[in-house]
Amino acid sequence: MDKVAAIVLAAGAGTRMRSKRPKVAHEVLGKPLVNWVLDAANSAGIECIVTVVGHGREVVEPLVAESSSIVVQEEQLGTAHAVKCAMDSDALASFEGSVVILSGDCPLIGPDTIGELASLQQSSDAGAVVLTMRLDDPFGYGRIVREGFDPSNPQGVDGNAPIERIVEQKDASESEAAICECNSGFYCFDAASLRDVLSRIGNSNSQGEFYLTDALEIIRNEGKPTLAFEGADPAECLGVNSRRQLAEATAVKQMQINGRLMDEGVTMIDPSLVWCGPDVKVGQDCILHPNVTLFGDTVIDEDTVLLPVTMLKNTKVGKGCTVGPNTRIYDTVIGDGCVIDETCSHEARIDNGAQTGPRTYLRPGAHLCEDAKAGTHVEIKNSTIGKGSKVPHLSYIGDATLGEGVNIGAGSITCNYDGKKKHPTHIGDNAFIGSDTMMVAPVNIGDNVVVGAGSVITKDVPDDALAVARSREKIIEEWTVKHREA
Ligand code: UD1
Ligand code: CA
Repeated sequence: MDKVAAIVLAAGAGTRMRSKRPKVAHEVLGKPLVNWVLDAANSAGIECIVTVVGHGREVVEPLVAESSSIVVQEEQLGTAHAVKCAMDSDALASFEGSVVILSGDCPLIGPDTIGELASLQQSSDAGAVVLTMRLDDPFGYGRIVREGFDPSNPQGVDGNAPIERIVEQKDASESEAAICECNSGFYCFDAASLRDVLSRIGNSNSQGEFYLTDALEIIRNEGKPTLAFEGADPAECLGVNSRRQLAEATAVKQMQINGRLMDEGVTMIDPSLVWCGPDVKVGQDCILHPNVTLFGDTVIDEDTVLLPVTMLKNTKVGKGCTVGPNTRIYDTVIGDGCVIDETCSHEARIDNGAQTGPRTYLRPGAHLCEDAKAGTHVEIKNSTIGKGSKVPHLSYIGDATLGEGVNIGAGSITCNYDGKKKHPTHIGDNAFIGSDTMMVAPVNIGDNVVVGAGSVITKDVPDDALAVARSREKIIEEWTVKHREA
């Protein structure tokens, strides 16, 4: 596409969300609404993107600063005013070509549709093209009034007739409100026509706002063609104005992503109970189980976060893995053939054939090498668990390096913190650490060492040694018999 710029509108308050957070910062599958739109514009190949921010800009600006230039709309006087702020900015003041307008609250828009909108404007040389959709329930959207509209027969209009004007829900007559073709809030304008018309849009309407939708009627009345382009999939234009619509948009995205993952060869026991972010990669033959379910008289207080099976951010799952229920994975790379059961993992690495859970907590820097295992109620932080080594039950391993073939007995921990500083523990290949061992760091335990159960190890143990550090067992024969008699 040649000479296309995009303006993303993201300055509105989003009153209908009833939120302290600006609307466009609300998230669908871990990504803010406005970033879905920006990413679509980027994927469509548009290089010059301007985001208009205003309400809650201290929250919105950091979200968009990397992928667009920013223009501030100090007062939110309406969509036409927001576009004017952008067109007057340094980034666009002298821009010639096509300007695509995107609503920052429509996260489902796809790059192909943005591309088609711009191509149509360019090939037809129209002053404006608006993307429209037909909805069974058009309530809330601006309605497309085409030429030849007959109030006594609102549906009877020729769907190819030129567009006459757009009327907002709040300004619509009863017959106009019955029209089901709606304004998506996505447009492509010829830059010169847009600039020319912006200063002439008034605000005499029910909301006292400067409506961008009025631009079409003015351009048309001046004899420049205005076109309506009905997109292939109305779901792409779903606007998020309320929490209900946020949930609807999330459900659509969830099914798109899950559908793609299943097409790529991932099994989901129940796709409606798997939520994956857009950048998550899951390998072939992985099995994703369902998530948290709440039954009975469950009461949940305000500001509670419920964590389902989620894989967010830079998570990669290799081939043939089984990912269990109640698992949360962030920024973790998982190799092939792993079994991940009820695990919470942040910034960790799980190599081929390794197993975790049920109930494992992997914290930043945890690295399970090939075929290693971290089992039940095991927490691992900033540690390498060598090839085939096992930490099966009730352990804390922090700031440690384990060689290959190590076995850590149940309840053993590295005491890595002296109250001020963290210290390292090294455990050599094939060491066998008896149950309930405390390894007081800094400490080195050699290759092939055996540590007796219940030991507190404070000194280094050389290769091939047995270390026992506990009080000796004392046997007093017949003791209970005597006590029973007493
Ligand atoms: C708008 C359209 C409506 C269309 C609908 C599609 C207008 C007047 N109406 O209505 O025809 O059917 O989108 O979703 O354009 N914004 C600003 N500055 C402002 C006002 C709004 O940046 O002063 C931004 C908002 O943050 C939002 C977008 O513009 O991202 C649309 O505003 P919103 O108030 O949601 O408009 P709708 O009532 O949905
Ligand atoms: Ca909206």
